[in-house]
Amino acid sequence: MEDLTPRREDLEPIEIASRDEIEALQLERMKWSLRHAYENVPFYKASFDAAGVHPDDLQSLSDLARFPFTLKQDLRDNYPFGMFAVPREQVRRLHASSGTTGQPTVVGYTERDIRTWASVVARSMRASGTRPGDVVHIAYGYGLFTGGLGAHYGAEALGCAVVPVSGGMTTRQVKLIEDFGASTIMVTPSYMLSILDEYRAQGLDPRKSPLKVGIFGAEPWTNSMREEIEQAFDMHAVDIYGLSEVIGPGVANECVETKDGLHIWEDHFYPEIIDPATGEVLPDGEFGELVFTSLTKEAFPIIRYRTRDLTRLLPGTARSMRRMEKITGRSDDMIILRGVNIFPTQIEEQLMTVSALAPHFQIELVREGRMDQMIVHVELAGGGCDGEAACAELQKKIKRNVGVSTRVQLAEAGGVARSQGKAVRVIDNRPKG
Ligand code: DLL
Repeated sequence: MEDLTPRREDLEPIEIASRDEIEALQLERMKWSLRHAYENVPFYKASFDAAGVHPDDLQSLSDLARFPFTLKQDLRDNYPFGMFAVPREQVRRLHASSGTTGQPTVVGYTERDIRTWASVVARSMRASGTRPGDVVHIAYGYGLFTGGLGAHYGAEALGCAVVPVSGGMTTRQVKLIEDFGASTIMVTPSYMLSILDEYRAQGLDPRKSPLKVGIFGAEPWTNSMREEIEQAFDMHAVDIYGLSEVIGPGVANECVETKDGLHIWEDHFYPEIIDPATGEVLPDGEFGELVFTSLTKEAFPIIRYRTRDLTRLLPGTARSMRRMEKITGRSDDMIILRGVNIFPTQIEEQLMTVSALAPHFQIELVREGRMDQMIVHVELAGGGCDGEAACAELQKKIKRNVGVSTRVQLAEAGGVARSQGKAVRVIDNRPKG
């Protein structure tokens, strides 16, 4: 793989500023953001008042811990525009996440917010090894989901030629990557695997594709999956993180030269890790739930938003800003099977070590008698592999390394549902209630 480390002079000065400079900027911006939320959003006024805190109480960054959390339910309760801090006429864009239950969550952006967002995505892409002038193929979904348009504006801001393909029509994805000579692709890692299958189905060698960089996110994925994709395409695979409530993609991104976790763009988004049970702030290095406070957003300031994503904070390496470790999973994706906590990424990690099996998988939960069972649906990597032996091997590895008994079930080729965006990893067929 080509060395795509960006030149130091191409970085924004704040990316490599001293911690003192970064923290001074954060404090100044945090004061503004708390006041902006308190003065313009009735929800924040009520929640700060109820907790007995006022924006003036923030004298240092650690004072943030005195302010109340914001939950997804709060956003739903204020559907659609109740959390906006500017008159509706100043809103230039709306996005929404569908959610599986109840009201969607609606977020808004002013003109300046859209510029901020484009600049953090451009910074993320530069960190990934993408350069001005590159052809960027965007296969994240366009529409209310923030993936497509978020990536699009960022790629334009960096000075790239954007191919706004969106998700789906996998045959055409391959044709366009090849014909237009895309050197960067932005897509969910699970859909990248479908694109890989399509390369092989068309008899094309993915290592000969023009792709040099893949910027993958919107769902959890493992370092084993990174290796699989990097080997298959002879390209760099880096991780991009974000969520609509905080801005969309571009909250944090890995650097191509280190690939050691995601640098959080801390000049715009202030991270904390809390104990999910008690809400207590944990020191850097400890695992817990990620919480974000926006520092510069105008239309939709968000204060101490509980993401449900589980990770830990680490010191900066390639940049001065802190890193978050690759996300293991969300607290609400966690499967508790007969008392053992399991994340789908742990199953992915084991699956990737069984070479006879394809990297696609889906977990089904069923109840047999009084016992919950987990069935892992998999497929063979190619003809000529011994399915029974491969399934037995995976079953054994999951038992030994994850600590649960599962049933690994072989589907025919193409039988495991393919992702065209965010993968659905768990199907819960247990009786409700
Ligand atoms: O998924 C924004 C995005 C688009 C990020 C494209 C990266 C690339 P939401 O639909 O609001 O926004 O979903 C946010 O997705 O809380 C995480 O649980 C998960 N997620 C996003 N990126 C990653 C990642 C977009 N790199 C939710 N690793 C978040 C693990 C991720 N999970």
